[in-house]
Amino acid sequence: MRVAMAKNRGVLIAIEGIDGAGKSTQSVLLKRALEQRGYEVVLLKEPTNGVWGSKVRRLAQLGRHVSPEEELELFLRDREENAKQHIIPALESGRVVIMDRYYPSSMAYQGALGIDPQLIRERSERVAPVPDLVVVLDVPPEVGVSRILKRGERPNHFEEEEYLRAVRDVFRRIVEEGMGVLVDGTLSPQRVHARILELAMPLVEDC
Ligand code: TYD
Repeated sequence: MRVAMAKNRGVLIAIEGIDGAGKSTQSVLLKRALEQRGYEVVLLKEPTNGVWGSKVRRLAQLGRHVSPEEELELFLRDREENAKQHIIPALESGRVVIMDRYYPSSMAYQGALGIDPQLIRERSERVAPVPDLVVVLDVPPEVGVSRILKRGERPNHFEEEEYLRAVRDVFRRIVEEGMGVLVDGTLSPQRVHARILELAMPLVEDC
């Protein structure tokens, strides 16, 4: 069962990829470009700053390993809360919602830990709306890690290179199986942006 939504809804776009793929930069560029064209845009991020999102981030910083199943539960609770409080109301009022990470991240990150990605998808779709467009920014893990280090951040346990390699593989598989579009994240930010805008415009023009 999927979450119930009013018929005349806005557009939901998820920007995805491994850490350091450029999601946050691209989400902001997309928001700005759509606003310049007169659309009302809400940019949201998962994990959120709510109770569950903060908990998962704190665990990551402490390097404390919980089981993949427990980790998934936290992300799902965070998502359910975000959907109820922010995503669904924004869509119902006709806005464009850009997600800087959404449930494809759970499929890839917790999928890479051995949980079936399709099961994660089904569970997410019970609590959160299906996106109209998923963009997966694809970069090799060494590029992701070097961008994280350049930001002056220390990689947390989600960001180790071998793990990110497995996460990237799941993202690529998800796209091969029909969810979303792969965009080469090693291109210049402007070129990546142009490609995302090209993918988004037909959807927002339609809404
Ligand atoms: P990140 O986008 O890096 O958030 P912040 O910059 O606020 O720390 O997300 C933190 C980590 O959470 C990231 O490495 C990916 C991971 N993650 C999952 O494992 N599953 C999920 O469902 C989501 C949304 C994120």
